[in-house]
Amino acid sequence: MDDAAQNEAWEIGEPHFDAATPIEPQLRFALRYAVLAPSNHNTQPWRFIVDGDTVQICADRMRALAVVDPFDRELLISCGAALFNLRVALCRLGLAYEITLFPSELDPDIVALVHVSRGEIRDPQLHALFDALTVRVTTRAPFVDEPVAAALQQKLIDACGMEGATACCVERKAEREALAQLIADADHAQFADPRFRRELASWIHPLRRDDGMPAYGSGVGVLLDFTVPLVTSVVRLFDAGAGVPATRQHLVEGSPLMMAIATTRDDREAWLAAGQALERVLLAAASEGLTASYLNQPIEVEPLREQLKTLLNMTAVPQLLLRVGRGPRVRHAPRRRLSDVVS
Ligand SMILES: Cc1cc2nc3c(=O)[nH]c(=O)nc-3n(C[C@H](O)[C@H](O)[C@H](O)COP(=O)(O)O)c2cc1C
Repeated sequence: MDDAAQNEAWEIGEPHFDAATPIEPQLRFALRYAVLAPSNHNTQPWRFIVDGDTVQICADRMRALAVVDPFDRELLISCGAALFNLRVALCRLGLAYEITLFPSELDPDIVALVHVSRGEIRDPQLHALFDALTVRVTTRAPFVDEPVAAALQQKLIDACGMEGATACCVERKAEREALAQLIADADHAQFADPRFRRELASWIHPLRRDDGMPAYGSGVGVLLDFTVPLVTSVVRLFDAGAGVPATRQHLVEGSPLMMAIATTRDDREAWLAAGQALERVLLAAASEGLTASYLNQPIEVEPLREQLKTLLNMTAVPQLLLRVGRGPRVRHAPRRRLSDVVS
């Protein structure tokens, strides 16, 4: 498949629905936006089962990342992000929804049941985020070395709060340097584990077409060559350009704002909330011409998660660590065919 075909998922035409159109085709149309959500390693670990006016959002645990995400925490965060995109698209279509999280005691893979109706829309502010759905992209390149205005930071903090999560912004250089050190320690621990390298390599494999991170396919050899020292950053964390491994200094200079998203609890409901908060933040950022990428390593390496919490002086549990700023335009990552994920 060529690049154009891979990016087809991002070119969604305008909806042509009128008041007489039944809900089901509109719901199916809205799912085109749900699948544009970010997911760890671009695994897209979701399935959608439509039945008339309802859709079940299911976790696809066959796409779980057993090494980096052994409890499916990030998998459920990704499903939460997809749920948020669906909410935004439904709002744009003028449709209301009721959401029941984990509706089945027998099947924990059903993470949400969404019932769509023509009732009153509860969160009309979502409408303003619609255009950002196809603009948002993960940008691992350095950002412009200029501060993110306080008003914009507040907008991101508010977006996070609206989904029941807490955001903590870090912009002082000394604090960003301390975070960069923690990220480097976590990177070191992860890349020293051959199982981690193998798992990552399988998701940046050049033969992947509609999932994974194809732009990094050339990094596979390096990942699996254990004689090569830790050339980690290029493939996962931060692309300093021209294949140059990024240093901690590159990371600090190219990340004017670092931002943690945290939740009070650390359970499956909290992970879904974190995913919805993440996507609300990312869409709010994209609406303002900002972009982001992930520095989650210290959260994924359990002993370092506590250190991160202390460093950020937070009482809540960190779920995601982002860098935010103005970056170059980068290509969208591919998505699986709708027919593979929607039934
Ligand atoms: C929970 C979660 C964790 C992620 N962790 C990382 C990460 O550690 N490093 C990274 O480069 N990207 C990370 N990503 C970004 C994904 O790789 C990205 O969303 C995916 O490749 C699809 O690309 P897109 O966001 O541009 O659509 C993460 C995304 C999510 C939702």
